[in-house]
Formats: sequence, C-alpha cells, structure tokens
Amino acid sequence: MIDIMPISLLDEEQEAEWFYSGTISSYDRCAASYAAQNDSISEVEDLLTFFDKEIPCGASLLDVGCGHGRDAEYLSSLGHTVHGIDRSEKLLRMARERGPKSHFVEGDIRSLPFRDRSFDGLWMNAVLHHLIPPHMLRALTECHRVLKPSGLLFVSVHLDDSSGWQTRGQDFVRYYARVSGAMLAEFLRDARLTPVRMTSRSAESRWLHCFARAHAG
Ligand SMILES: C[S@@+](CC[C@H](N)C(=O)[O-])C[C@H]1O[C@@H](n2cnc3c(N)ncnc32)[C@H](O)[C@@H]1O
Repeated sequence: MIDIMPISLLDEEQEAEWFYSGTISSYDRCAASYAAQNDSISEVEDLLTFFDKEIPCGASLLDVGCGHGRDAEYLSSLGHTVHGIDRSEKLLRMARERGPKSHFVEGDIRSLPFRDRSFDGLWMNAVLHHLIPPHMLRALTECHRVLKPSGLLFVSVHLDDSSGWQTRGQDFVRYYARVSGAMLAEFLRDARLTPVRMTSRSAESRWLHCFARAHAG
C-alpha cells in the first residue's frame, strides 16, 4: 500500500514524485499480472504496422516506458534495433528476458539518457498519462531532442476528465493525470512535434493514438 502523506505540505514537484513512486511501486508489485494481462500484441498491432511502414528499414528505435517489453520484442522481430526505458525494475527484468537482442535501461522518461538525434522512431504506449501536465511537456521535449529530424513519435494516452489515484485491489494503485486531445496537441506543438495522425478506436474510446514528426532543429 502507498504511504499517507500530508499533500498540502508538498509543492507540485514533491507531490508529483509521490504520485510517481506510488505508481512505479504498484507496477513493480503487479508486474507478473500486468504482463499476463497485456501479453497479446493484437491490441496495438495495427498501430505498430502503421509505425513500421513510416520508419526506415532497420531503424533505430526507443520504446519509451517499455513495460515488460512486448512491443520492443515485436519491433525487434521486424529487423529494427530497439532500446527500451522504464522505471519499473520488475517489468524491465521481464523485458530483458524476452528481448535479449534489445537494450533496456532503467530511467525516467523526463530525462532520457541518450544523445540528441539518436533515434528514427520513438514508441510510447500508455505512459504519458502517468505524469502531471508540466512533466508531460518535459517528456515530449526530451522525445524531440532524441529524435532525428523528421523522426516519428507514437504516443497513446488514456483520456481522463479528472486526475488522481485509480485503485483496484491492494496492488493496483496508479496515478492518472487529466488529459484531453487538445492538451496533447498543444504539448506536441510546444515540443516541436507535428501530429500527422490522431485517432481513437471509436467515439466512446477513452484512448487517443497519435503519430507525430519531429521538426528539424
Ligand atoms: C501501462 S504501462 C505501459 C507499458 C508498455 N508501454 C505497454 O504498452 O505495455 C506504463 C509503463 O510506464 C512506466 N512509467 C510510468 N512513469 C514512468 C516514468 N516517469 N519514466 C519511465 N517509465 C515510466 C511504468 O513503469 C509502466 O511500465
């Protein structure tokens, strides 16, 4: 369970760190069940296929918030060179086991430990909504920095009307931020990323899928 903290005494950054450590330790605790429930590629296969068509053959890719490495493994099987980054030690261990050819590092998506213009493409599925809005912009700015000019970013977010903890049982305790399509579009623009395709599965879908290209410079 998460520790109870006197939120009113924390500034925004401290409060965010508290959200993040609670969320990441929940992913660590639920790693086995998360991997089992999210093992099928079918949920994202059409998006991965579009991504693959839009990047060069043998591209250099980063899976940002790679979790247990399902998508990294798939992209690697298509002949790309894949790196992955995540804060959950337990999920990373699984990613390393299933993708020995890929390179996985423990780190935060707000500060990517890679040189400028390292990647042809970045894949960021279901991660950004775990950050408070100023940190979403920071993470997208990092994405722009490590992408080559015209490199492709895929980002998916869960659209929520309010922010806060979501809990299911003792171990599922995650912070979700309020995110809208307009907010994501504004952050992408501010991070010098141009959306080329934004879709939802259906009118009722709470998921937004966006492909964006890095501006040069
Ligand atoms: C819903 S899972 C998605 C995992 C993977 N992308 C997938 O589609 O299966 C969210 C992931 O984001 C990671 N994460 C959340 N905040 C992060 C941060 N600030 N830096 C790095 N990873 C983070 C979590 O550890 C978790 O693996």
